Amino acid sequence: MLVVANWKAYVENLEKAERLVALSKRLSRAADNLIVLAPPAPFLGTFALKNKSKVAFSAQDVSKTPGGAVTGEATAQTYLSAGASYAIVGHSERRAAGDTDAVVAEKLAHALAADLTPILCVGERERDHDGRYLAFVREEIATALAALTPKERMRVIVAYEPLWAIGKTAESAISPDDLAEMVLYVRKVLSELLPGKNASRALVLYGGSVEPENVRDLARVASVDGFLIGHASVDEPMFASLVKELS
Ligand code: PGA
Repeated sequence: MLVVANWKAYVENLEKAERLVALSKRLSRAADNLIVLAPPAPFLGTFALKNKSKVAFSAQDVSKTPGGAVTGEATAQTYLSAGASYAIVGHSERRAAGDTDAVVAEKLAHALAADLTPILCVGERERDHDGRYLAFVREEIATALAALTPKERMRVIVAYEPLWAIGKTAESAISPDDLAEMVLYVRKVLSELLPGKNASRALVLYGGSVEPENVRDLARVASVDGFLIGHASVDEPMFASLVKELS
C-alpha cells in the first residue's frame, strides 16, 4: 500500500517534524507499505536531501510558473532538487485557494517535466442523487490529463478525495462499498484516457478522514492502492496504529 502523509500546515516546528520522520522510517522498515511524507516546503529539503531510507518525500503543491521573477513560488524543479520524488497537485485546499482546472493541468505538466510523480487530487464537494458528482470527477480527471502525452498520463497517480469527507473522523469517511464503486469509476475514466490496458495498472488512492478505525476496512476494497492521510498523519500514535493496521 502507498501511504501518503499530507502534513498540510499542521507541523510548524522542526522537532515535531523530526519525530514524525523518525517514526515513519521505523514504520516503513517493519512493513511493506511505502510511506511518502509531504511536509511543509521549508522542512522538505532538511529531511529529503539526507534521506537514505525507504521513506519518500512529496511536495504538497508546486508552482504553476516555470520559475523566474515570481517571489514566493517554489517550482517543481526546486522540489526535485530538494529531494522530493512526488508532488501533490490539485488538492481541494489549493483549489479552494484559487487553483482552477487549468491551473491544476499546468502544475501537473510542471511536476512531470521535473520528473516528479504527480498525485492528482479529484473529488466532488457533495453527493447528489442524480449522479452529477460522477460527471464532475470525470471532468476533473479529463481536463487535468488533456494536454499530456500518453506516456505522461501513465505516470499520474489519482487520489480520490471527496470534499465532504476531508478533515472529519472515521465515521464521516466514505463507506468501503462506496469507495469500491468510486475506484472502479476512476479506473473506467482512466481507461478512456490512457493507452491500451494501462488503466488497470494506474495507482488510485483514497483520501478523506482515513483513521486507524477505518483504514483496514477501506484497504480491503479491491483495487485501491493506498491512502492520502491528513490529520491522522501528524498525530504520532494515530499514524503508527494506522500504518500497523495496514501491515
Ligand atoms: P484528512 O485529510 O485525512 O484530514 O481528512 C486528507 C486530505 O486532505 O488529504
